[in-house]
Amino acid sequence: MGKSTIIFIASAICLFSLLGITQANEESDNYQFILEGIVYCDPCRSIFKTNLSEPVADARVGMQCRHPETEQVTITVTASTNSTGYYHMLIEGDHENEICETYLIKSPKEDCSEIPTEGHTKELSRVTLTSNNGIAGKNRESNALFFLTKKAAPECQQEFKEMEYLPELKDINQA
Ligand SMILES: *[C@@H]1O[C@H](CO)[C@@H](O)[C@H](O)[C@H]1NC(C)=O
Ligand SMILES: *[C@@H]1O[C@H](CO)[C@@H](O)[C@H](O)[C@H]1NC(C)=O
Repeated sequence: MGKSTIIFIASAICLFSLLGITQANEESDNYQFILEGIVYCDPCRSIFKTNLSEPVADARVGMQCRHPETEQVTITVTASTNSTGYYHMLIEGDHENEICETYLIKSPKEDCSEIPTEGHTKELSRVTLTSNNGIAGKNRESNALFFLTKKAAPECQQEFKEMEYLPELKDINQA
């Protein structure tokens, strides 16, 4: 192969990769927001992160926005978590004046697949997908989502003590 052929091939490869990059950028420019979040398995059934929480890979999650009065759904996006438990969603449009919530769909772990339904979990899953509230940029982060085990692990008791989670316990220690 002559020198010029090699240069030609090299520049062709360069050009193609540049094209690839611009295309990828344009694609993501169609989206208003990039929503990211993490999914944990919570062996303590506490619905907050502890040292015993573990990220869940290959979990299915969704995000839905709806009109607060009519309940009409305006957008639904689903995603799977990567190997470190994170999901990543591209969201089209501005969703001011809508209620947007992330939710769990399916866990790949049979022993950690219960979806919490307690009242406050819904509040915690709210996400704000608008630029009209002073938050700049495209990136939005949602609160962590937790799959629960059927029973709380015995280690959780110790974990809560270390976190001083139980207020009564803290008071006793200080007295
Ligand atoms: C998983 O996604 C998160 C957030 O997008 C990213 O920071 C992390 O590097 C990803 N992990 C892998 C292994 O790709
Ligand atoms: C979590 O684990 C780290 C490292 O093992 C430890 O330093 C920390 O105190 C633990 N936190 C709680 C709340 O148990």
